[in-house]
Amino acid sequence: MKEIHDFTILERQQLGSRYFALVLGHGGCMQPVVPGQFVEVQVTGVREVMLRRPISVHDVNEEHGTLTLLIQIVGNGTRRLAELKVGDHLNVVYPLGHGFSTTIPARSKVLMVGGGAGIAPLLHLSKTLKANGMDCTILLGGRTAELIPVRTEFEPFGRVCIATDDGSLGHKGLVVEHPAFSENYDMIYTCGPTPMMKAVARSASKRGIRCEVSLENMMACGVGACLCCVTDTDEGHKCVCKEGPVFDISTLKKWYQC
Ligand SMILES: Cc1cc2nc3c(=O)[nH]c(=O)nc-3n(C[C@H](O)[C@H](O)[C@H](O)COP(=O)(O)OP(=O)(O)OC[C@H]3O[C@@H](n4cnc5c(N)ncnc54)[C@H](O)[C@@H]3O)c2cc1C
Ligand code: FES
Repeated sequence: MKEIHDFTILERQQLGSRYFALVLGHGGCMQPVVPGQFVEVQVTGVREVMLRRPISVHDVNEEHGTLTLLIQIVGNGTRRLAELKVGDHLNVVYPLGHGFSTTIPARSKVLMVGGGAGIAPLLHLSKTLKANGMDCTILLGGRTAELIPVRTEFEPFGRVCIATDDGSLGHKGLVVEHPAFSENYDMIYTCGPTPMMKAVARSASKRGIRCEVSLENMMACGVGACLCCVTDTDEGHKCVCKEGPVFDISTLKKWYQC
């Protein structure tokens, strides 16, 4: 069930110059959050930012009633969110959207591919898949090492591989050029820049591997009312905020083939 709630900021961590993480405390009984679901956060104090901003749930601690968000500073809204301090409140609508499939056969060999801020939903996903007995590889990419804001957090949940365009960390090149990408998998999950996700989807499709992508279309209402996030799928137009953001690529041939 969706909830609008004033969370309290319990921790704030700056991760290089472009990213920060916020740990939000609920103070009560939180709604369950499926990996890949997102929240819409209210940004206050900036006249130009009227609409809530969609942000993936990076991590969940049900026992302590906390959600963690990993945010890249790109414009007025995220710049304002970066000014929030421990003890401030953040009004959040959650959980939103349709998340990743996590009920796949135990011991499946799975690959998660994240680029830039698209790394965010993969922590909650890798934790969940590991707990469900999957053999996980997490492949993270960015233009430079600084643009891969988190990596050690993933280590308890699988093999972590890195690709950077400039070779400042891990394999030099794109994620799809990393040797781990061409291994065989039962399932691939991906979130990040559209060209990266399309390349992952095209390769998965060619190799007959099931694959889910998390689209990051521009959003406004976040609940399927304004139609501003619609994407053209093989099954007709769909609202990314409500019927996604996660889609199986078998329904997105039009999207990844162009
Ligand atoms: C389902 C979903 C989950 C997301 N999860 C995360 C997350 O976990 N962490 C994170 O840092 N960001 C995430 N984003 C992207 C985030 O919502 C945008 O970066 C944010 O709304 C930008 O707000 P702003 O006011 O700072 O920038 P604006 O001033 O609104 O825009 C600044 C620049 O960013 C571009 N931009 C804005 N929104 C998007 C978008 N959705 N996709 C691509 N480019 C965009 C604009 O075109 C513009 O060039 C997610 C987006 C979606 C749809
Ligand atoms: S953001 Fe309004 S319908 Fe998706």
